[in-house]
Amino acid sequence: MSDDDLDLMESLLGDPVVMTHYDHPKSRGECQGWIDWNMRNYARDGFGLWIIETEDGDFVGDCGLTWQPIDGESLELGYHVLPRHQGKGFATEAARAAREFVRRRGDVDFVIAIIAPGNTASIRVAEKAGLSVWKHANYHGREHVIYRADLNMT
Ligand SMILES: CC(C)(COP(=O)(O)OP(=O)(O)OC[C@H]1O[C@@H](n2cnc3c(N)ncnc32)[C@H](O)[C@@H]1OP(=O)(O)O)[C@@H](O)C(=O)NCCC(=O)NCCS
Repeated sequence: MSDDDLDLMESLLGDPVVMTHYDHPKSRGECQGWIDWNMRNYARDGFGLWIIETEDGDFVGDCGLTWQPIDGESLELGYHVLPRHQGKGFATEAARAAREFVRRRGDVDFVIAIIAPGNTASIRVAEKAGLSVWKHANYHGREHVIYRADLNMT
């Protein structure tokens, strides 16, 4: 993800359908903030949310790993896919790849997914990437279900 992806990220995170389980669709400025945050994460952590695209270079969405304030700090597996590309298995493939990426690094014991109750598609992606319910937690002022996978078990 780089500054050149602003239009693409706005088409993703500015979409009311994609953002159903968030407070609101993101403005262009907020999408630039999202890119800036990920570029800082790449520099600091060596990872962040990455762009998902098809082999032909068609933009699909984003997926990757970010530190989140759950249980101190926990590494979250996150994903967003454009409506026209949903239901094709992209989020599952990307989430599994991101999980494998961090498992191979060997320096993190577990990953989580922070999921709003009722976000069925996100729950299925988490389950298919090997995560299961860990606990409930308040995140950004709302109750969420925290899914978790222990990386040293597999
Ligand atoms: C969650 C999301 C990334 C899934 O992306 P996707 O590429 O469509 O997911 P996949 O095609 O890999 O599908 C994974 C599973 O979810 C299921 N699924 C997909 N969309 C669904 C929906 N709207 N309702 C119920 N299940 C759904 C699929 O059927 C599949 O399960 P199955 O193999 O048992 O049939 C996508 O719906 C999205 O971007 N949602 C909005 C953003 C969001 O909420 N992100 C997660 C924040 S925690």
